[in-house]
Amino acid sequence: MKIALIPGDGIGIEVIRETVKVLDVVTRQSGCSFEYREVLMGGRAIDETGVPLPQETIDVCKASDAVLLGAVGGPQWDTLPGHLRPEAGLLSLRKALEVFANLRPAVLFPQLKSASTLKEEVLGDGIDLMVIRELTGGLYFGEKKRVDTADGQKAWDTMVYSTHEIERIIKVAFQIARKRSGKVTLVDKANVLESSRLWREVATRLALENKDIAMDYMYVDNAAMQLVRNPRQFDVIVTENMFGDILSDEASMLTGSLGMLPSASIGAGKLGIYEPIHGSAPDIAGQDKANPLATVMSAAMMLRYSFDMENEAVMIENAVRKVLDQGYRTLDIMQPGMKAVGTQKMGELVCKALE
Ligand code: IPM
Ligand code: MG
Repeated sequence: MKIALIPGDGIGIEVIRETVKVLDVVTRQSGCSFEYREVLMGGRAIDETGVPLPQETIDVCKASDAVLLGAVGGPQWDTLPGHLRPEAGLLSLRKALEVFANLRPAVLFPQLKSASTLKEEVLGDGIDLMVIRELTGGLYFGEKKRVDTADGQKAWDTMVYSTHEIERIIKVAFQIARKRSGKVTLVDKANVLESSRLWREVATRLALENKDIAMDYMYVDNAAMQLVRNPRQFDVIVTENMFGDILSDEASMLTGSLGMLPSASIGAGKLGIYEPIHGSAPDIAGQDKANPLATVMSAAMMLRYSFDMENEAVMIENAVRKVLDQGYRTLDIMQPGMKAVGTQKMGELVCKALE
């Protein structure tokens, strides 16, 4: 399997380093082999090549079986014009690889229950939901423009969706739901937005054709409220790009630990982009403080979705659980009575738990 590695900026570099060590243990145990090609994207790409996503990176990613990404961005690139910012590199890569479905599981590890900002009674015996965010359409990619007017300026972004784009993401949601409870909630704003009304029509039709799926519908404002009021009513949430961006951050906080959450971005084929949902955290970069577990679990998702290595994916996830059970914590999830460890040590502990 060929893996394109994009450590990126800030803590991305450290968490990718530890994740590769974990994958090395997996290769030793399963007899498979991974070939890595490291490429540039984001801030470092801007510094070294002048653009956030060099053509070489696109080519290498397209020729790989999966892309494993750390994080991009940092304050030194924040003043660049929009199309030259590190984030623009990430958006262009998603588009170039046509990874239209972004899977963002929000799982509360029982060991970390007290890290959540929600009351214990709201969390019940755990949170395990999956936000499926459309990733290559909508407001992020519609026509955008700014023009001068007599009294200042005018700017717009447009939310555009086609039947095809909606169908394919709803189908992904159904596939994922079948391996879970079979329940899918479409989140939209169909009381106001025409594009949302199209989403709802398409989803309703597909739900009729797939009787094993229990589909329900919720307006995005209500969904934002329900996520903190009663998160356990949700299993799979499917929604458009911008709503998914916002709701997945909200859902992640239910688990109390941004540093624990992986993500997968997949398309029609096997090629996917796997990345932690946390950012580059420039404030703690290079200090051995970052939590590598979100990236480690992103690698598990890579094995599951791009390489069909379900057993090995579960092995990694179990190893992470074991290390948490043993009481080891990085700074972001540290609690009284637990053992504080740095990035490298956490990586080593996962490797040991795997062996
Ligand atoms: C995310 C991030 C990105 C997004 C940014 C960095 C462009 O917030 O992956 O959720 O908005 O998609
Ligand atoms: Mg986001």
